Amino acid sequence: RSKAKTSPCGNATAKMDQRRGSMYLEEETSNKPGVLSCIFSLKEEVGALAKALRLFEEKGINLTHIESRPSRMNKEEFEFFISVDSTCSQVLDEVIDGLRTQISGHVHELSRNKQKDTVPWFPNDIQDLDRFANQILSYGSELDADHPGFTDTVYRARRKEFADIAYNYRHGQVIPRVEYTEAEKATWGTVFKELKTLYPTHACREHNRVFPLLEKYCGYRQDNIPQLEDISRFLQSCTGFRLRPVAGLLSSRDFLAGLAFRVFHSTQYIRHGSRPMYTPEPDICHELLGHVPLFADPSFAQFSQEIGLASLGAPDEYIEKLATVYWFTVEFGLCKQGSEIKAYGAGLLSSFGELQYCLTDKPRIMPFDPEKTSMQKYPITEFQPVYFVADSFEDAKEKVRKFAATIPRPFTVRYNAYTQSIEVLDNTQQLRNLADSISSEMGILCNALRKLE
Ligand SMILES: [Fe+2]
Repeated sequence: RSKAKTSPCGNATAKMDQRRGSMYLEEETSNKPGVLSCIFSLKEEVGALAKALRLFEEKGINLTHIESRPSRMNKEEFEFFISVDSTCSQVLDEVIDGLRTQISGHVHELSRNKQKDTVPWFPNDIQDLDRFANQILSYGSELDADHPGFTDTVYRARRKEFADIAYNYRHGQVIPRVEYTEAEKATWGTVFKELKTLYPTHACREHNRVFPLLEKYCGYRQDNIPQLEDISRFLQSCTGFRLRPVAGLLSSRDFLAGLAFRVFHSTQYIRHGSRPMYTPEPDICHELLGHVPLFADPSFAQFSQEIGLASLGAPDEYIEKLATVYWFTVEFGLCKQGSEIKAYGAGLLSSFGELQYCLTDKPRIMPFDPEKTSMQKYPITEFQPVYFVADSFEDAKEKVRKFAATIPRPFTVRYNAYTQSIEVLDNTQQLRNLADSISSEMGILCNALRKLE
């Protein structure tokens, strides 16, 4: 579905604007019949639905389907799922505006029957990442029956506090500071102390270079759980990467899209204290000890962003492949350093057992090749039987870039760090802007070279 949004940049970005503000986009030329769907929520009160339906009636839209359910997010609201014929696309936009402005309902636009030539929606600017907050697959306080904290009501209540912080977080806000309990700090302390003994011999040199800086500037200590806001500021000063709290599990598509903006969705809660060396899901130990140090490295930051950019608007099967590439690099990657192999994946750097195991001769080691790596099956609850080794982050980045070029997308994207938005390079104006920017960079390079002579 396409929907124009007013832009301060005027007509030049009008085409790009059509990609904003909706879940799915139809190509401009496409007028094939299909079904458009959306979900909206209304406060439970007499006549609320009738008022909403009147908007559809006024525009002459015939609903082909409607169903309702109590809202899971807000007990006082009901959600309605409706479908209409896609020929109503234009007027539906007006109805949705009406729902938002006159009835103040929350509206999520969906399209269940994606046509072959539709491009999945993707965020265009960094603020769009706010939409992911209510698209999580499970809320942070919902634990599986085999989770160590499943029967612990205090732990579950604590998890809900963290989930609520993330759910209400919006781009640009300061990430709320958390007063961690003594028990939580003790859990962190155990993990921190054990892992730190392995880093000098097992972690890649980038991790070892950054770690002392995190101790110096971000409060990384055995008796202190660092705050996301402090780390986010530190990362921004190193590579422009920033953290964003997340309330639960995001879809691969949404999670990868964050990386395109150099935004990493991070948990803020800690694993259950009964088993400090085990967690069935990412927690703050995993994020802060595993992921954060590498995001401070410029090459690794670029590599991660490259995976994110490749994912924007990619078909579902390629999202799956990119998520697998992410798994075998950012989570479980190994890399060559001189004559040795070291760990750079966060899943390894945050696991005392697997960090030792991955450098033994037990697992199979293969060269990183996105084509092959993206097809590799993997277990999620036990040590990996297979790891992929990158020659360097630079090399891995080039390989991902080549792989990305094979993803069927009718356009190329580029991140504009000044506007913190994605530029879709599908018209001459965009290409001219890019040429201008390269030309001015080349000028700087030539000048600098001349001065060195
Ligand atoms: Fe992770």
